[in-house]
Amino acid sequence: MDAVPAAIDDVLRRTIDGGGHVCVLTGAGMSAESGIPTFRGTHDSLWSRFDPMRLATVEAWREDPALVWGWYRWRMHLVREAEPNAGHRALAELAQRLSLSLVTQNVDDLHERAGSIVDAHVHGSLFALRCFACERLHDGALDDYVDDAQRVEPMRCMACGGHIRPGVVWFGEALPHDAWATAVDAATRCALMLVVGTSGLVYPAAGLPALARRHGATVVEINPEPTALSAEADHVWRATAAQALPLLVR
Ligand code: APR
Repeated sequence: MDAVPAAIDDVLRRTIDGGGHVCVLTGAGMSAESGIPTFRGTHDSLWSRFDPMRLATVEAWREDPALVWGWYRWRMHLVREAEPNAGHRALAELAQRLSLSLVTQNVDDLHERAGSIVDAHVHGSLFALRCFACERLHDGALDDYVDDAQRVEPMRCMACGGHIRPGVVWFGEALPHDAWATAVDAATRCALMLVVGTSGLVYPAAGLPALARRHGATVVEINPEPTALSAEADHVWRATAAQALPLLVR
């Protein structure tokens, strides 16, 4: 792996020469090479003990907030211990060279820590804490965390005493309105969409590549594995984020 596939290099060059806009849509695979487990990949992490599809729900929170908060504190701990990878850094560099919108499904802050401006966190952010009851933002300090703790009692809201929850979108919850509007705008006006590290299974985010194509964009998938989106991509690049993206900025 030492060169951008010719067809992809060509479409990127044509986009740049034409002053076209690029929209990058990232998923959990973007952070895999930083050591953050993906949701559906095969790995034997602590993650396998949890079922994200069951825990990332309002029902799970109502039933056992300490188990859900413990899972998210573990994820926050992983992210804090992790570093952005070469793929994150390459996207930050790419944004210096062309008109780019960064839309991510990821709730970590690795894009930001690599220097990117994230235009839309369509599934929210781990560290954007708020009260589950009154919705007030919680900007207080995080509780201290014992690595690998299974259950952690959530902090309490200073205003109403309710439980503090992570600012991520749980299954069944609406996406943040502004983030979604930004994502749709970027998808409809881009000339090129790079889809990096997502299985394309969770809607409505997984519908963004098809929306981009309907508006005339070329869609390129960067993923070491085939996905639900591969068939609708104009080009697929079977490579990882940290392998492929730095080649785009070389
Ligand atoms: N580089 C690029 N892609 C990778 C890498 C890598 N190093 N490692 C794995 N991948 C790919 C996998 O092949 C897979 O297609 O990343 C994808 C990860 O898919 P998921 O785990 O399903 O993550 P994602 O698509 O982001 O999930 C979407 O589902 O659980 C919800 O809200 C959660 O935002 C998440 C959403």
